[in-house]
Amino acid sequence: MLGYKSGIAEVMTKITILRDEFEHVHDTNPIEHIGSRLKSPESLIAKVRRKGCPLTLDAIREQIWDIAGVRVTCSFVSDIYRIRDLLISQQDLTVLAERDYIAEPKANGYQSLHLIVQVPVFLSDRVEAVTVEIQIRTIAMDFWASLEHKIYYKYDGAVPERLLVELREAALAAARLDATMEQLHDEVRALAAGSTQGRGAASPSAPSDELLSAFTHLLDARRVEPPLV
Ligand code: GTP
Ligand code: MG
Repeated sequence: MLGYKSGIAEVMTKITILRDEFEHVHDTNPIEHIGSRLKSPESLIAKVRRKGCPLTLDAIREQIWDIAGVRVTCSFVSDIYRIRDLLISQQDLTVLAERDYIAEPKANGYQSLHLIVQVPVFLSDRVEAVTVEIQIRTIAMDFWASLEHKIYYKYDGAVPERLLVELREAALAAARLDATMEQLHDEVRALAAGSTQGRGAASPSAPSDELLSAFTHLLDARRVEPPLV
């Protein structure tokens, strides 16, 4: 477990560095939140039994990929792929698998991008390649997944059909919200780029008056309440 804990620390550091760099150098930050968890021995043993995996350290290392888990929450779907690209281009990360449940959502509606990576952990007498599961998703996908997880556990897996149907509909609503937010974001960015042309880059700290008024106009045009700013 110490190796997996260190693997989490290595991946967390990589993602935190990216977030800090975006914070200071760029005017937008694709990372909203970074979290992590180490699988408890009880749920590891339960998963080993469920999968019929032999009870040896080597078999568990090879077959169970989510002992170390890191979750990155982004604002927009495009940010998810941006973070994915930045991570997989790092030379010391080896990608074992990528599961794109955004391109192909699960039947229940679950959406996320999963990367299974190996990261080197330097110990006193050897280097260990530690497997870490990185889940990258939007805030809306995260909201959906955490509620679905609670419902699934509450009903011990036997969720009533009516709730399953509503959950699928909620997943579609989350995907529509993500698409709308991305489109709004693109439109505002294009307007902001137009209004700052020839005057250098927009301030990274506070939104300019032009940007705020462009955003308010855009919301008015869509008959949506402007946000409290
Ligand atoms: P396990 O689901 O952990 O047995 O692994 P797997 O090999 O089936 O991989 P998969 O990519 O399907 O899921 C890995 C992890 O993604 C899970 O441990 C969950 O954290 C998350 N996940 C996958 N499917 C769902 C889902 O339908 N709902 C929720 N809430 N989370 C999910
Ligand atoms: Mg699964």
